[in-house]
Amino acid sequence: MNKQILFLLFFLISFNSTSQVPTNTISIIPQPVHILKGTGHFTFPKEVLIHAPDSPELVKTISILSERLSLPTGYQVSSANSSNGATIKLLLNDSDDSQLGKEGYTLSVTHTGIKIKANKPAGLFYGVQTLLQLLPSQIESKVLIKNINWVVPIVEIQDFPKLGWRGLMFDVARHFFTKDEVKQYIDAMSKYKYNVLHLHLTDDEGWRIEIKGYPKLTEIGAWNVKREGEFGDFIPPLANEPRNYGGFYTQEDIKELVRYAKDRFIEIMPEVDVPGHSLAAIASYPELSCTPDAVNYKVRSGEKIMDWSGGATPKALLDNTLCPANELAYSFMDSVISQLATLFPFEYIHLGGDEAPINFWQKNEQIKALMAREGIKNSTEVQGYFTRRVEKIVESKGKKMMAWDEVLEGGVSPTTAVMSWRGMKYGIEAALNKHEVVMSPTTYAYLDYMQSDVISEPRVYASLRLNKSYEFEPVPEGVDPQYIKGGQANLWTEQVYTIRQAEYMTWPRAFAIAESVWSPKDKKNWPEFFSRVEEHFKRLDFSETKYSPAVYDPIFKVGKTSDNKLTIDLSLEVEGLDIYYSFDNSFPDRFYPKYMGTLTAPIDAKQLKLITYKDKVPVGRMLTMPIADLKRRARL
Ligand code: ACM
Repeated sequence: MNKQILFLLFFLISFNSTSQVPTNTISIIPQPVHILKGTGHFTFPKEVLIHAPDSPELVKTISILSERLSLPTGYQVSSANSSNGATIKLLLNDSDDSQLGKEGYTLSVTHTGIKIKANKPAGLFYGVQTLLQLLPSQIESKVLIKNINWVVPIVEIQDFPKLGWRGLMFDVARHFFTKDEVKQYIDAMSKYKYNVLHLHLTDDEGWRIEIKGYPKLTEIGAWNVKREGEFGDFIPPLANEPRNYGGFYTQEDIKELVRYAKDRFIEIMPEVDVPGHSLAAIASYPELSCTPDAVNYKVRSGEKIMDWSGGATPKALLDNTLCPANELAYSFMDSVISQLATLFPFEYIHLGGDEAPINFWQKNEQIKALMAREGIKNSTEVQGYFTRRVEKIVESKGKKMMAWDEVLEGGVSPTTAVMSWRGMKYGIEAALNKHEVVMSPTTYAYLDYMQSDVISEPRVYASLRLNKSYEFEPVPEGVDPQYIKGGQANLWTEQVYTIRQAEYMTWPRAFAIAESVWSPKDKKNWPEFFSRVEEHFKRLDFSETKYSPAVYDPIFKVGKTSDNKLTIDLSLEVEGLDIYYSFDNSFPDRFYPKYMGTLTAPIDAKQLKLITYKDKVPVGRMLTMPIADLKRRARL
């Protein structure tokens, strides 16, 4: 063999075994409390031994870790009886380390192995998530990846959450998501140390949970007419259109989901949204309504049923409320709540309370009689009466009630936990009045909002960019923090038809929310966070989880010159990127003009096309902004 061939062989062998040595950065989301970085790496052996305490709560943690490690690496992963010689040691502290609390952990990577310690199994689970984030991003792959050095940096981490409630809400009512899709959602959220999945199970468009004794809820209430496009203004369904779009979870499905979530240290909080948002229930059982015409109602398929032109209080075009003056509504709620209480071990049941229209109540004789009998002065108090009665039912089943912040208006009992969604202010008011509060304000945490400009996103009435979500601080100044249980982001799904789009809407904004509810305030840093987000984009690519690249979309600001010419200013959420553009309808790349300052559109231009680059790499998507649209925005 001549020297050249020998060299080539050596080159190939060494490249095969050590190519793609990962960079030495540590990119953990949410940012841990303390990271002390050492030098060098620990390299995983091809036979990985995991030693863990013999606890039923940890059986799944170990199998999840084993599977997550063995799939992409192809390594043999097994459990070790003794901690001696184990690659990964999971250990429960003999006596509690008070700083770590119930969910904290320490993680130590040395040249000889990995040790994760915690007071409780949840802490070990979170330590495992951090360990996986220390591995190269390819660890997220669902198939074998060859030629990777499976290493983790030498490091000492001490970590614990800021808040005990770290939630995501998934609306499975507006569009139905299968049990397996919900599991997929749970898998993704568990990697970022979320611990509450709030399932919005009922709404005008669907009732998604089997309730024994009320079969029509799922025979009728779970189904509507399939429509696609811009939800909300669909042509009303015709009488002969098939109502076969939707679905529901059987009680066995629910038990399976609760167990699946629990194995990942996530509690599921059910929400049955009443008294408003109840058309699916009323279409199934019109006798729950006070409106005789309810016998003709059908589950909504995205046609207009509400007039929002008057502002926050909607005017209903049909009566989608359970009737507070109707005893049948309370026996129905008793049955529903009793079954929810049995199915969901979580201590809270969410009973909605948002956006209940009052226009049908105002003219209803039964409601008027109720008001006279109970000395109720107005329709808001009618809802208060309903809420208090429903809360008594919840308490009779040994649970606590949570509801959207509107319930504060009708005279609510101090034991009701409040989820603040219309900004932070109702949460602040509730906390000052000693209610337990979860902050999930539209301002920072509404995942159904667009992530950038309407030209590049499915149209929703508002936009919420990643950098704004990152500003979320769930514990406001001047409020006793003991009343703020935590924070949550909400994914409403009117405009979300598939699990892929649910993922797109969730990530990366749920990274920002995860960090806002877990990491200390002084550890938050937007540019540094964004560099970690980009690392996690690679992870989402490997796990084939969809995410939005909207953070790279330019922000448009329009103006006009003194002689009424359109001016366009562009900016980005992040520094260090370049925008290239064209006005000639062709697709720009980095050899086109680079945006350097205010643009004036050429007189005949019809489109501004744009793309964002990081150095030589296009990172953003190709955007086409109609000039007519910009002129409209500039009132030209
Ligand atoms: C809500 O967004 N209607 C709670």
